[in-house]
Amino acid sequence: MSALAFTQTDQARRIGEDERARILADPGFGQYYTDFMAHASWREACGWDRGEVVPFGPLYLSPAAAVLHYGQEIFEGLKAFRHADGSVWTFRPERNAERLQRSARRLALPELPTEAFLDSLRAVVTADEPWVPEATSEESLYLRPFMFASEEFLGVRAAHAVEYYVIASPAGPYFPRGVQPLVVWITDEYARAGAGGTGAAKCGGNYASSLLGKREAAEHGADEILFLDSETHTSIDELSGMNVFAITADGRLLTPALTGSILEGVTRESILRLAADRGLEPLEQKLEMSEILAQLGSGEITEMFACGTAAVINPIGEFRAHGGSWRVGDGGSGEITLALRQELTDIQYGRVPDRHGWLTRLV
Ligand code: COI
Repeated sequence: MSALAFTQTDQARRIGEDERARILADPGFGQYYTDFMAHASWREACGWDRGEVVPFGPLYLSPAAAVLHYGQEIFEGLKAFRHADGSVWTFRPERNAERLQRSARRLALPELPTEAFLDSLRAVVTADEPWVPEATSEESLYLRPFMFASEEFLGVRAAHAVEYYVIASPAGPYFPRGVQPLVVWITDEYARAGAGGTGAAKCGGNYASSLLGKREAAEHGADEILFLDSETHTSIDELSGMNVFAITADGRLLTPALTGSILEGVTRESILRLAADRGLEPLEQKLEMSEILAQLGSGEITEMFACGTAAVINPIGEFRAHGGSWRVGDGGSGEITLALRQELTDIQYGRVPDRHGWLTRLV
């Protein structure tokens, strides 16, 4: 079978130039969508087929589609960045392609070949090129590939009909307050994922299960929720959609080890590399919450931050829990945290050499 490619026939834009300019002036996060989307179908009998770029719009789906009942769905998140010469690039997309394949295996969905994944990104960003914000901004075009069970069938088994889409959304800062220190609520009630579960997969269900905790966090004046391991409720897993890091006064960079219950973040992996380059000692290990809080009190830990594709790197200023509250450093944005953020975004926007070969040109 020939490789799956995404072709465009309908070129008509749904949003005019003036309206697009108005949106790009203040896009926020996840509020506006571009003119086009990529789509391909998979059928058990014939595999992947019908790659296309079509106008962005509502989907036609049977109310009996398996995804609506059993949540057989996975997704990815990555960004397209405009460089000063007008070209458009994305960051380590093959890592997202591989993670989508791992998520697909875990959710019994078909794997999309890496080449097809990259072609779908290129096809959408080529069609939606005017939607990629200017290089002078700190904005990007957020790309959201996703795959779900579309088969009209209520029996519980892996679906025989699956759809894959890529939609795109111009993006400013993930948090409405911008890059400001987060207040994080440590939940002692909920867990995000358990051993043998789907925690390492990027599936909608993991995010759905975080929502009640996020509401609890908001009730305590916090921006985000921190989940501990489901078994002992003592060690750090991750936030609702971001990995967690701590920096010690003696130059260690700590993050929870990949146990199968946390997401293997592409930003997480890149930070471990950038930190080592600047002489920090990266350590992936079990992080006991009580020890972390004690080390915040003693000053042994000086900075903490959250990271993900959407939020990039965001300082954590304070933890809250039923037992009290703990300030991180002076409660502000840590110096090393901001330097790592600067370096990562400088690479992504082509402002410094791409010494690790992390960028792929899309347009
Ligand atoms: C991302 O960082 O891209 C994610 O998928 C997380 C989501 C909560 C926005």
